[in-house]
Amino acid sequence: MRTTLFQALLLVGTLGLAHAGDDDSATNPRDFNSYYAPAYRLPDPAAMSSPAARGKELIHSTYKYLGAESGQRAANGRPFVGNKLACTNCHMSYGTQPNASPFVVVAQKYAAPGIFNSRSNILLDVPNRVNTCMERSLAGEALPRDSQPMKDIVAYIDFLGTGLQPGFTFKQVKGQEFPAVTLLTRAANPVRGKEIYKERCKDCHQDNGQGKWNDEQQRYDIPALWGNNSFGLMSGMGRLATAATMVWGTMPRDQVNIMDPATRMSQADAWDVAAYLLSNSHPFNERYVNDWTGVGPDGMPNWLRKPASASYDHTMPRSNLGAATDDPGKPPMFPRAQHTFGPFQPIEAALKAARIARGFP
Ligand code: HEC
Ligand code: HEC
Repeated sequence: MRTTLFQALLLVGTLGLAHAGDDDSATNPRDFNSYYAPAYRLPDPAAMSSPAARGKELIHSTYKYLGAESGQRAANGRPFVGNKLACTNCHMSYGTQPNASPFVVVAQKYAAPGIFNSRSNILLDVPNRVNTCMERSLAGEALPRDSQPMKDIVAYIDFLGTGLQPGFTFKQVKGQEFPAVTLLTRAANPVRGKEIYKERCKDCHQDNGQGKWNDEQQRYDIPALWGNNSFGLMSGMGRLATAATMVWGTMPRDQVNIMDPATRMSQADAWDVAAYLLSNSHPFNERYVNDWTGVGPDGMPNWLRKPASASYDHTMPRSNLGAATDDPGKPPMFPRAQHTFGPFQPIEAALKAARIARGFP
């Protein structure tokens, strides 16, 4: 009995190691290829150009090369990486892991001229898309488009894009972005989330969410989940709806098997534990209160597209006798806590009604 338990623990330990870091076993191409088949196949690493290889290293140790201690600074004097995260802390296994917003077909998806983004009121091509994560997820600054680090990251993304198989479009590749979750009908509960955190996350991410820093590689082996070194509130992860999908699709890191959705925690647990992460502090830069201003290419005002769980400008939408408006003279329609924790359906319904009233279905 004892031996069996010991062996089981050993096995769990080994699996934990295989999945915990960005080591080669975590990128075992066979697993990912069988998941992505037949539309996509990871390209042969031997075919990687040296800029692409540098890009791969940059996304792994982003703070080391572009953070506060790197000597690199943006034109405004701030470091390019404002916290201490690396791209691969979220885009796992060097941006190849399904359901962790992989980079596998980003080159095709954001091919020039790019996709309109209502949050920043710009077209996102690959460099712009990378920069929205630099500024928001990494709480830093945009890399100049013609800088070497940007060219290297784009080269790596282009390299991954060569894995799209003949006869398939990028839309047919499974596991892009994060898996969809169903909205809770109640507010997410950070108190319950804290209990889940203690049980299922704390051993890796630590008591105070501070993670485990790797001094040699100047990166987190286990990322900080709140505090100054964690993701920015103005990022996708800063929105409960996105954080919950990412946690549901990938965490706990040593438990979730991409080939077997039954290994995921319940969606309610993912919402509540994500709510706990967001109940703690995150970097924020005031310049983002201007998000969702302007008008999209189809003539729709961008504020009508604001996701319900973007909490940092909780004043939007405002309420004109119960109808959503952007009139700055009117009071906020929903309290900040509802933008942070939900329920989100009333916010979505108010924005939808406002779109319909303005002739945008
Ligand atoms: C076995 C260790 C382990 C456990 C347990 C674990 N994580 Fe993680 N987590 C990681 C690692 C490692 C990464 C970074 C990705 C990588 O290196 O593959 C990560 C990344 C993350 C990220 C994205 C990075 C960021 O900065 O936002 C979130 C969010 C996260 N974990 C939340 C959780 C939550 C919530 C739990 C509990 C339900 C949990 N993790 C349990 C190891 C773990
Ligand atoms: C804290 C987590 C986090 C970190 C760190 C991060 N990102 Fe992201 N990234 C996201 C999330 C979440 C999305 C999904 C979009 C959203 O909802 O904002 C995303 C989306 C993207 C996309 C678009 C993917 C798609 O399929 O549409 C690209 C490209 C990207 N990130 C590149 C990067 C690069 C390059 C870095 C490092 C410079 C980086 N990200 C760092 C969380 C992160």
